[in-house]
Amino acid sequence: MNPQKKLYDWYQVHKRDLPFRKKKQAYPIWISEVMLQQTRVNAMLPLYDSFIKRFPNPESLASADEEEVLAFWKGLGYYSRARNLRKAAIFLVQNYNGSFPKDLNSVLKLPGIGNYTARAILSIAYDLPLAVLDGNVKRVLSRYYGYTENILGPKADRDLQEKADLFLNSEHPGDHNQGLMELGATLCLPESPKCLLCPLSEFCFARIHQKTAEIPLRKKEKKQIQLVSEIFVLSNQKQILLVREPKMRFLKEMFHLPYGMVGDIPEEAYAPSPFFLALKEIAKDPKTIGTFKHSITHHKLDFSVLTYPMPVRGEIEKLTKKFGVESKWVTLSSLDTEFPSSLASKVKKFLLYLES
Ligand code: ADE
Ligand code: SF4
Repeated sequence: MNPQKKLYDWYQVHKRDLPFRKKKQAYPIWISEVMLQQTRVNAMLPLYDSFIKRFPNPESLASADEEEVLAFWKGLGYYSRARNLRKAAIFLVQNYNGSFPKDLNSVLKLPGIGNYTARAILSIAYDLPLAVLDGNVKRVLSRYYGYTENILGPKADRDLQEKADLFLNSEHPGDHNQGLMELGATLCLPESPKCLLCPLSEFCFARIHQKTAEIPLRKKEKKQIQLVSEIFVLSNQKQILLVREPKMRFLKEMFHLPYGMVGDIPEEAYAPSPFFLALKEIAKDPKTIGTFKHSITHHKLDFSVLTYPMPVRGEIEKLTKKFGVESKWVTLSSLDTEFPSSLASKVKKFLLYLES
């Protein structure tokens, strides 16, 4: 029997009876996957039930007050997940008649949904052939294929996603993905995996070569540096300001949305530029439209996205001249080509939501 079939059969017997596994319906699966992003199954179950009872579909979630949604999230923490769920529900109601889109790119545009969550929902609810990669799956696959490089390193996700795609059971992608997650959660444990019970043991590199203690290799490459940042969407007549500043720590040589660090600055090298500080003086009381996380090498950034209408361009032009900053105004649709960083698409998610 091939390994995919073995895993599938094992999962049919050993899967836990969980409420969100009862029906192949995108909405409850979406809610459960978002809850499971930072919370363990047992901890989320009671809250999941009451949440689904109160908000049984996108319409009920979209029409609820944010405060009520947050109240039903109480105990789960990371409240931006609940805010994003509500925002995404509003987007679904306005743009897709309340149904969940069926293609990866549309799903990735929803606030709060990244690669893992999008693939999980689409494979489990619609059986689309998309392989997921989360912490558990990474451990299983690195052992299975004998991936000996550091799984915390910069190319591990790309390498392991390739292996996950290769290993996918395209007849049963949803059960296959959940089978791998379940295997990682119950047998392929970080310490002392239970290989004797594992459906993949006869094919598994780490089991065969007795390397389950060495694989996966988890080596923190550098001390992580936490930064808190603001990124500005300054608009004038439907155009958005991009700048290119001399001597930036990140995004060198690139036109970008104005951004800078705020709060505690760990080292002088991360201090906001004088241009950014002067800009903040002009843009008094900007509106926060969202927050997201972003990593650049060993830096972990928490971004707030702030908007501010710029009534006159002249003010900005005076500033850019004063600080030797280049600038240009671009449309929302060209934002990610003019500012070619994944930061642009993360910001754009919130802007699309505002426009709708
Ligand atoms: N963790 C996140 N999603 C899961 C799922 N669908 N099954 C098991 N564990 C999970
Ligand atoms: Fe993990 Fe052992 Fe199964 Fe390999 S055989 S996937 S190491 S539990």
